[in-house]
Amino acid sequence: MVAGLRFLMRGVCIALVGSAVTMSGAAQSGAGAKVAATPPMGWNSWNFFAGKVTDKDIRDTADLLVSTGMRDAGYVYVNIDDTWEAGRDAQGRIKTNEKFPDMKALADYVHAKGLKLGIYSSPGAQTCAHFEGSLGHEEQDAQTYADWGIDYLKYDLCGFRQNMREQAANDIPAQNKMMRDAYEKMHQAILKTGRPMVYSLCQYGWDAPWTWAPSVGGNLWRTTGDINATFDRMSLIGREQAGLAKFAGPGHWNDPDMLEVGNGKLTHDENMTHMTLWSILAAPLIAGNNLTAMTDDVKSILMNKDVIAIDQDPLGKQGDRVYAEGPVEIWAKPLNGGAMAVAVFNFGELQTDMKGIRLHLKELGIAKPVKAHDVWANKDLGTITDDFKTTVPRHGVVLLTIQR
Ligand code: GLA
Repeated sequence: MVAGLRFLMRGVCIALVGSAVTMSGAAQSGAGAKVAATPPMGWNSWNFFAGKVTDKDIRDTADLLVSTGMRDAGYVYVNIDDTWEAGRDAQGRIKTNEKFPDMKALADYVHAKGLKLGIYSSPGAQTCAHFEGSLGHEEQDAQTYADWGIDYLKYDLCGFRQNMREQAANDIPAQNKMMRDAYEKMHQAILKTGRPMVYSLCQYGWDAPWTWAPSVGGNLWRTTGDINATFDRMSLIGREQAGLAKFAGPGHWNDPDMLEVGNGKLTHDENMTHMTLWSILAAPLIAGNNLTAMTDDVKSILMNKDVIAIDQDPLGKQGDRVYAEGPVEIWAKPLNGGAMAVAVFNFGELQTDMKGIRLHLKELGIAKPVKAHDVWANKDLGTITDDFKTTVPRHGVVLLTIQR
């Protein structure tokens, strides 16, 4: 076990010194504006509204992002996902359908609230929901988005998989090259508009996008298939991020998919686990719940400023798993100024709290007692030593910051 831990710790140390990567691609696009210097924060329509989203839902959400304080907590992108598209006009310009009568007016409304507007398309002829994609119209679409005032594009592989299969049957490397080229094509189209846009790659983690997405301008790239509002799916996706820390940094982030906090039947502890894990991962925090029916509990989880500060830490280091023992996992994220966020998760199914979980400081590379703060409880714990023990509920988490 000890050798294994050392190995895992080495991973964290690499994350500490590595990834001093300069911003690339879309991050340097347009008028030289730097986008996504910290993981993008906002809201997206898909996880709750899916194909039913309308202009009114987006306006209501914009209003609520302001009135709930979420905008001021950092959630500034309001992203329309799939199903806004209609066909094309005689000049080939993309049209919006009856749910979105005037995209420019909607962008103006969102911008007037101090928010930014995001949109969705696919490099294929069709999107995942079988609406119009950008194939053959990349430059025209990017220019249309810029004319509307779009600030963020989620570009979803979907229909393009058919082109890959048809044009490079049984040749996976050739298919992967087609995919990368398609993402680079839209990257160049965005650059040509001169408007800074966050460029969000969505291709479900195919062909290890963390190794190439920044080179095609990706500010974030999905690392997995779709999330859903269940603890099993959310925690599986979150735990699969182990080992990806070294690929993330300012301007380019791993994206384990949008938040389900407040959706489905996720419990208080499960929502806290979700929010904590995504923050330790320096993941984009794109809420996906219905803000018109948000409980105070969900609001307090999404808006915990100390947890958000861990996600948004200016050092831009993604955290990683440092220890696992059955259902107990300890993940740590280096913070600016030498501090560290440490999360003790109980992914287990035990009906009761798991008592007496030990946090060995030496597993975190720390030789002496340190000052600790319990983030969710907002409580200083004083100085903790190597035999610190805690109690973690089923599907729950204890999140500490420690000063070294
Ligand atoms: C894919 C994406 C989802 C969502 C839908 C929309 O499944 O992964 O996030 O955008 O398409 O159709």
